[in-house]
Amino acid sequence: MLRREILAIAALTFLPSVASAQDTVKIGLILPMTGQQASTGKQIDAAVKLYLAQHGTTVAGKKIEVILKDDTSVPDVTKRLAQELVVNDKVAVLAGFGITPSAMATAPIATQAKVPEVVMAAGTSSITEASPFVVRTSFTLAQSAVPMAEWSVKNGIRKVVTMVSDYGPGIDAEKSFSDKFKADGGTIIENLRVPMRSPDFAPVLQKAADTKADALFVFVPSGTGAQFVKQFIERGLDKSGMKLIATGDVTDDDQLNGMGDAVVGVINAHNYSANHDSALNKSYVEAFRKANGGLRPNFMSVGGYDGMHLIYEALKKTGGDANGEKLIAAMKGFAWESPRGPISIDPDTRDIVQNIYIRKVEKVGGELYNVEFATIPNVKDPVKAAKK
Ligand code: DHB
Repeated sequence: MLRREILAIAALTFLPSVASAQDTVKIGLILPMTGQQASTGKQIDAAVKLYLAQHGTTVAGKKIEVILKDDTSVPDVTKRLAQELVVNDKVAVLAGFGITPSAMATAPIATQAKVPEVVMAAGTSSITEASPFVVRTSFTLAQSAVPMAEWSVKNGIRKVVTMVSDYGPGIDAEKSFSDKFKADGGTIIENLRVPMRSPDFAPVLQKAADTKADALFVFVPSGTGAQFVKQFIERGLDKSGMKLIATGDVTDDDQLNGMGDAVVGVINAHNYSANHDSALNKSYVEAFRKANGGLRPNFMSVGGYDGMHLIYEALKKTGGDANGEKLIAAMKGFAWESPRGPISIDPDTRDIVQNIYIRKVEKVGGELYNVEFATIPNVKDPVKAAKK
């Protein structure tokens, strides 16, 4: 044999033991691990780690490598990190995105690089329209706000004042709730907004109290609910006779137990409760708590857990081919059971279709939970559905 041939054979025998670039599928996971949205990062990172621990790091013959980056929820940082992950690390998938501005800032990069952007947290309707490579496993605010409005009118609430965080998901929540509430015969007295960053709720809570509405409808992003509830109680609004109704972002499982008995009875609508009654959810909550020092999983965690499942199953369908267009095609229409209930990816919009539950905050075994009492099945994003 020629020396060259011997070397070639030697190189071949070596190959399987060293994972080459082609054998590894890298996922760039961009999350707010510090700053105001850190609880979202912590929940999703924990859920992704749990998924990897349960399902292994090999799928369709490929080694999965997750590269975690902290964007501190600053969209310019998200964008720079996404660019670096695509260009330097050659990631096949971008995932995470704790807030809408971060998801939006990354969409042009996903389009240009033809890399799927799996949105695990952010909830503004238009995100999926920002790039044909965006797929969402979280939720849209309209999914929760519309059923909340419908329930309110049916249950005797006639006059509402709304209070939302002044950015994409808040504006969606405000509009979706108000439009549906008015269409069903209710009256919106006022639409109030608070800054997304470092909000002070006191001035708007005073305004809300002055309206003497039947109820105050609220959206604030995950991680902010406890601070809102504290000021709500401090101003005596829990005893004012004005009901508090909300999207489930406010009565977030990550903080709910610390909010105190003042929130018992608060009605809200959302996609996930740690109290959801299914065998899959019970094992999910147990495994999540065990792996994270007792931490209760919230709705952000399931966005991360299901996002990983979607990536794994898409890779199985493509036989391990990480081409972005093929992965997106494999994700469209995919349906499975999540800890939150049955979910699927709408093949037309790449947005999530899921049950929305009407819940009441109750004490269960000495802890506060969102207890589901009604289900609206297979809800598509109402904002996009209305455009059709
Ligand atoms: C968004 C962030 C949240 O924490 C949340 O609960 C809902 C929406 C967002 O920025 O899209």
